Amino acid sequence: MKARIAVLPGDGIGPEVSAAAVAVLRATGEYAAHDFTFAEYAIGGIAIDVHGDPLPPATLAACKSADAVLLGAVGGPKWSDPNAKVRPEQGLLGLRAALGVYANLRPVRVHPRLVALSPLKDEKLRNVDLLFLRELTGGAYFGAKTRTADAATDECKYTVTEIERITRRAFVLAQARSKRVTSVDKANVLETSRLWRSTVTRIALDYPDVALEHQLVDSMAMLLLTRPAAYDVIVTENLFGDILTDEAAALAGSLGLLPSASLGDGKVGLYEPIHGSAPDIAGKGLANPLGAILSAALLLRHSLGLENEATAIESAVGAVIERGVLTSDLGGSATTAEVTSAVVEALQHGRRSQEAA
Ligand code: NAD
Ligand code: IPM
Ligand code: MN
Repeated sequence: MKARIAVLPGDGIGPEVSAAAVAVLRATGEYAAHDFTFAEYAIGGIAIDVHGDPLPPATLAACKSADAVLLGAVGGPKWSDPNAKVRPEQGLLGLRAALGVYANLRPVRVHPRLVALSPLKDEKLRNVDLLFLRELTGGAYFGAKTRTADAATDECKYTVTEIERITRRAFVLAQARSKRVTSVDKANVLETSRLWRSTVTRIALDYPDVALEHQLVDSMAMLLLTRPAAYDVIVTENLFGDILTDEAAALAGSLGLLPSASLGDGKVGLYEPIHGSAPDIAGKGLANPLGAILSAALLLRHSLGLENEATAIESAVGAVIERGVLTSDLGGSATTAEVTSAVVEALQHGRRSQEAA
């Protein structure tokens, strides 16, 4: 298959981890005889520096016409002045909105070898397999903002249509998993959450084979740590999903491990690790590339329909963790490049074993 992939490396460790993901996609393209082409475009802080715009028109046009978009991370101290008029994060938010990718899938699994790294007890982590569905193009992120010298506001707005479409995604995904959905809101306080809850409850009637429960977000934050294996698909609004998924990364052992896929009703999907630009470790070869590499697997699965190739990458990542080739966030001493080469080798090895069988 032929596919054109737009690569947006961004800032901090973004270029390091996106190069790792591209290396793994290239290796996949070679063994499976796919014609993947990659072209890089500026986004975030580097795009502000070079083009004066965190989402230059050429970047957006390239993303819209690509088959899929792979992103590293944006942001950093250089552009973090709270009074700045333009910020790297606006580039990412603008891209998500322009591509209409309202459904952000963030799977969380716990590799047995990494259980010891989690602050939780072993038995709590057994069988943890979560899929967060974070609404990505609404809520307080996109509402009107005001700022005066002594006050500021962020409007949080959700429409029924926005809630319906993310809810349907969650239920369809749950049908292929363990048929349970937990919807997270703050319906005891927020009007948007009350609309969220009544809409989710109504849409759930169309999926009688899937069980629905509601949780308030504060209690969910606690339950994620006390009973993480009790949940399966978790659907929630933009800001709650942002916070709960960084928390869930602690179950897996590192923020550097979690991938994401952002999908809409259109053709193009956006794939990025959930972590940020990690300015504290940027440029040192210390970044864990696995979240970005697993995002590349999601790209193959959701944008290109290459399920076998996606699974092969996930298995190769599992094998590399099993072998203990780990970056320092996971207690190892391997560099970003060493982990990446190990994944590429594991992929080629897995391929040879398959051919031999
Ligand atoms: P961060 O996710 O960049 O880092 C948090 C901590 O996790 C740091 O100690 C970092 O070293 C560590 N970490 C993150 N990714 C890692 C990896 N792959 N390997 C090893 N360690 C890793 O969050 P932050 O420090 O709060 O934010 C830094 C900047 O990143 C901010 O400007 C923020 O807006 C931006 N950000 C961007 C994205 C994105 O582009 N999608 C996501 C989150 C944060
Ligand atoms: C993420 C990030 C972004 C978000 C920021 C950088 C805008 O934290 O992708 O999780 O809050 O969505
Ligand atoms: Mn985040």
